Amino acid sequence: MRRRDARLFFGCGIGRRWLQPAIRPANRNKHDGKEVSLLQPRPSTAAAVSNSLVSIQGLTFGYDARAILSDVSLEFASGKVIAIMGSSGCGKTTLLRLIGGILAPQAGRILFSGVPVDTGDRVALYALRRRMGMLFQFGALFTDLSIFENVAYPLREHTELPESMIRDIVLMKLDAVGLRGAASLGIGEISGGMARRVALARAIALDPEIIMYDEPFTGLDPIAIGIIANLIRRLNDATGATSLIVSHDVTECFQICDYTYLLSGGRVVARGTAQELQATQEPEVRQFIRGEPDGPVHFHYPASPIAQDLGIRV
Ligand SMILES: Nc1ncnc2c1ncn2[C@@H]1O[C@H](COP(=O)(O)OP(=O)(O)OP(=O)(O)O)[C@@H](O)[C@H]1O
Ligand SMILES: [Mg+2]
Repeated sequence: MRRRDARLFFGCGIGRRWLQPAIRPANRNKHDGKEVSLLQPRPSTAAAVSNSLVSIQGLTFGYDARAILSDVSLEFASGKVIAIMGSSGCGKTTLLRLIGGILAPQAGRILFSGVPVDTGDRVALYALRRRMGMLFQFGALFTDLSIFENVAYPLREHTELPESMIRDIVLMKLDAVGLRGAASLGIGEISGGMARRVALARAIALDPEIIMYDEPFTGLDPIAIGIIANLIRRLNDATGATSLIVSHDVTECFQICDYTYLLSGGRVVARGTAQELQATQEPEVRQFIRGEPDGPVHFHYPASPIAQDLGIRV
């Protein structure tokens, strides 16, 4: 299978879009018109003073008429590992796409290092994404490329580095995730846990300031989950990066994260350290943390009454 076909087949559309300009909804607000190019030197800003690498202010977003995030405000402190949790479909992946400029807010704004993420400025967005690492929810590895080439991909796309330097960087990144010895293997020859580590090595290839992990533990056995969790924490501390983990895995997140946000119904319903969230009496938070099927969070996607759909008269 050719690389192009593999990208399309394996749903790497998002991965590809990561390197391209963002979608801008027709009804996007223009904010205050004070957007600054990301190519300019980093300004000394309130965000920098408050030690937030990413600051999200009054963010509202929906797909078409369907609201997903409503007036959400979050701060991601520099150097920390932060979890974003919430039930399936609450908008976690959407939030990461907004931070990466794949989508544009309908209201509110996102500041990265004090500078607004401007999805309308292709050059600035491209430069911004060089500073971000993304581990996609469904891996998005190129199955027709070797492990080595997968990790080399962002270096080839974003830099003009000579081949000898690309080789050294790729081997160092693979060493960091324990897979240097597997560099020549194909993606089809490795396990799910190894594939997640390759994706992690690729996410850190450009030494990003922020690494976003979308469901890094899904589908892994307990040992592999422990390995990935450990790696995320160690890489964060070794590089001084900021890590955002989107996950449902309460136990693992509470073990490695400094701070957690819980999303529900398009809003932030709780925020705090693991201890703070575990101690809360808030029914919605308790339901999520304990994995209880009954509670304020509903099982069903919004729908008309089933009798109506089935044409039954009541
Ligand atoms: N491209 C899209 N177009 C229209 N609706 C979308 C699109 N992507 C996601 N949605 C909808 O937006 C909502 C939030 O999706 P999102 O993928 O952000 O959820 P999530 O919290 O990441 O869920 P999960 O935990 O299952 O990954 C879902 O109801 C989904 O159906
Ligand atoms: Mg998701």
